[in-house]
Amino acid sequence: MCDRVREGILVGCGNPLLDISAVVPLNFLQKYSMNEDDAILAEDRHMPIYGELVEDYQAEFLAGGSVQNSLRIAQWILRQPRVAVFFGCVGEDRYAGILKEKAQAAGLDVHYQVKKDVPTGTCAVLITGTHRSLCANLAAANNFTIDHLEEPSNKALVDNAQYYYISGFFLTVNPPSIMQVAATAHAKQRPFLMNLSAPFISQFYMAPLLAALPYVDIIFGNEAEAQAFAEAQQWPSGDLREIGKRLVAMEKKNPARPRIAILTQGCDPVLLIQQDSVQEFPVTKLAVHEIVDTNGAGDAFVGGFLSQFVQGKSLDVCIRCGNYAAGHIIKNPGCTYSGEPEFVE
Ligand code: AP5
Ligand code: NA
Repeated sequence: MCDRVREGILVGCGNPLLDISAVVPLNFLQKYSMNEDDAILAEDRHMPIYGELVEDYQAEFLAGGSVQNSLRIAQWILRQPRVAVFFGCVGEDRYAGILKEKAQAAGLDVHYQVKKDVPTGTCAVLITGTHRSLCANLAAANNFTIDHLEEPSNKALVDNAQYYYISGFFLTVNPPSIMQVAATAHAKQRPFLMNLSAPFISQFYMAPLLAALPYVDIIFGNEAEAQAFAEAQQWPSGDLREIGKRLVAMEKKNPARPRIAILTQGCDPVLLIQQDSVQEFPVTKLAVHEIVDTNGAGDAFVGGFLSQFVQGKSLDVCIRCGNYAAGHIIKNPGCTYSGEPEFVE
C-alpha cells in the first residue's frame, strides 16, 4: 500500500507522442536505412513510414512519449490521481485527444501547450522479432516554448513541485525550459532527475546535455546510452561501472548532494552508482513466453522508481519498484499495464 502523497509533487516535461506500432519485415527497416534497435528522429525520407504502418501492417495506436510513459506508470503504482504534472506540446487534432484521454485516465495532470496547424507528434515502433526500432516524428512536440512554463498557473505548478523529471529527448526540443526547471529545482534544493534517453542524444546534443548535467541529482540510462555518453566524452570505453563512476563525478552545482547514476542493462542487474560505490539490484528474468514486448521497459523502470521516490522511500525500494514496473509492462503491449499494481516493499 502506498502512503498518500500531495498532488502535483512531481513535474515532468517531455514529448507527448502517439506510438504507431506494428510488426514489420526486416526489409521494411532496410528500405528506410534503419537498424533493429534504433531510436532516431524522423527526417523527410522517413515520413512515409507512418502511413505505411497504418495501411499495410495493421498498426496499433498506443500512448507514448518517454516522460509521459514514466509518469503514467508512476500514477498507476501510486493509485492516487494528479500526483504528477506533465508539460509538453501537442497539435489540435484527434491524436492529441487520444493522448490526453489516456494520460488523464492514468491519473496524470496534463497541461499541454497546443499549437494549431501542427500535427501531434508520433513515434513509429517497428517490431522485428524481439527487437524494436523507434522513429519519432516530433511535429508539434518540437514547438514547445518556455513561455508555456512562464504562464502563471503553470509556473505555480513548477514552483509547487518537489521533484522534477525531464528526458534527454527533450534536449532536442527546448533546452531553455530544461535549464529553467533545473534552476528552480536547484534554488529550492529539490531533486532534479534526467535520463540519457538514447545514444543519439550524447552523439548530437552533448552541449545542452553538459549544460544541464551540473543540476542533475539522478541520471538514468541503459547500457547503450551510457556507452554513447562515454564515447562522446572520449573516455576509455568498456566497463559500465567505470562510466557510471565518472558520470557521477562530473561537475555538480550542489556538491552537498552527490549525483547518483542508475544504469539498467536489460535482464542483467541494475547498477546504482554513488561516488565510489556500485551496488547491483537483480532483475527477475522473464520466460520467453511471458514477454509481449520490451517496448517502454526503460520508461516503466523510471516510473516505478519515481512512484517510490516521491514518497521519500529508500533508493533500494525505488529500484526494486522500477524493476517490478518494467517487468510488468514487458508482459503487456507497449508501455501499458493491466490490473492493479502488486508491488510490495
Ligand atoms: P523504448 O526505447 O522502447 O522504451 P524504453 O523505455 O527505453 O525501453 P527499452 O526496451 O529500450 O528499455 P531500455 O533499454 O531503456 O532498458 P533495459 O532494457 O535496460 O521507447 C519507448 C518510448 O519512447 C515510446 O513510447 C516512444 O514514444 C518514446 N520515444 C521515442 N523517441 C522519443 C523522443 N524523441 N522523445 C520522446 N519520446 C520518445 O531494461 C529496463 C528494465 O526493464 C530492466 O532494468 C529490467 O527491470 C527490465 N527488463 C528488461 N529486460 C528484461 C527481461 N528480459 N526480463 C525481465 N526484466 C527485464
Ligand atoms: Na511492453
